Amino acid sequence: GEAKHPKDVEWSHSGPFGTYDRPSVQRGLQVYQQVCASCHGLRFVAFRNLQAIGFSEPQVKAIAAEYTITDGPNDAGDMFERPGKDFDYFPEPFPNDKAAAAANGGVAPPDLSLMSKARPNGDNYLYSLLTGYGESETAGEEHGCSATNYYNPYFSGGCIAMPPPLAEGLVEYADGTEATTEQMAHDVTAFLAWAAEPKMEERKQLGWKVMLFLIVLSVLLYLAKRQIWGRLH
Ligand code: HEM
Repeated sequence: GEAKHPKDVEWSHSGPFGTYDRPSVQRGLQVYQQVCASCHGLRFVAFRNLQAIGFSEPQVKAIAAEYTITDGPNDAGDMFERPGKDFDYFPEPFPNDKAAAAANGGVAPPDLSLMSKARPNGDNYLYSLLTGYGESETAGEEHGCSATNYYNPYFSGGCIAMPPPLAEGLVEYADGTEATTEQMAHDVTAFLAWAAEPKMEERKQLGWKVMLFLIVLSVLLYLAKRQIWGRLH
């Protein structure tokens, strides 16, 4: 049936003055890394991009170095593995879509880089989807879902191949924040919002500068017009 309308969540990054909540986005990175990354890629985000959410260059290099990247071919024509560098992108969890689908009940988990923009009301939708399983603990089959699907009223059709990814205390936040399901859903959504539009703050700031410029220009043009035409009255 019809998907449930997403919950109305407060986001620091919405509205014309909105900016990303850096601590929340950083916690969201942790959720992505420790929970979502085993199934979902983030192919458009490079480790170096993480500087924009408040990590220093050495921190970014340390984050990158925790990953193993497949590189090559080298001079001998072979692929090889090496620790990640800041210029690398988040590695894919599966070698290809076929392997991804085989490991997930026949449906490949989509890349999350642009997910916040890919669904209407994206951030509220992501949050609602991630927190939506708990509202009905009953097995998917009770709602007419197949054995490999789970019931989630926010997902179009109501049956989703993704098992409930979040549960109380699943991550231990580096900043000590209590990892409730709602907190993790909020943080990972803030992170994915940033991932999908890393230049949002610059865009909004430029918008205001353009408005200010146009206001000043309008005043000047008005005064110039009076100067030129005023004596004809
Ligand atoms: C689908 C987010 C963890 C497997 C999705 C979708 C989103 C998402 C936004 C797309 C829903 C749509 O099409 O509207 C996340 C987040 C995670 C997470 C933020 C971490 C907190 C996982 C994990 C797995 C997984 C750990 C594997 C065990 C899947 C699969 C789909 C999916 C198979 C496709 C579902 C379908 O189309 O039926 N996920 N996910 N996800 N996810 Fe996840």
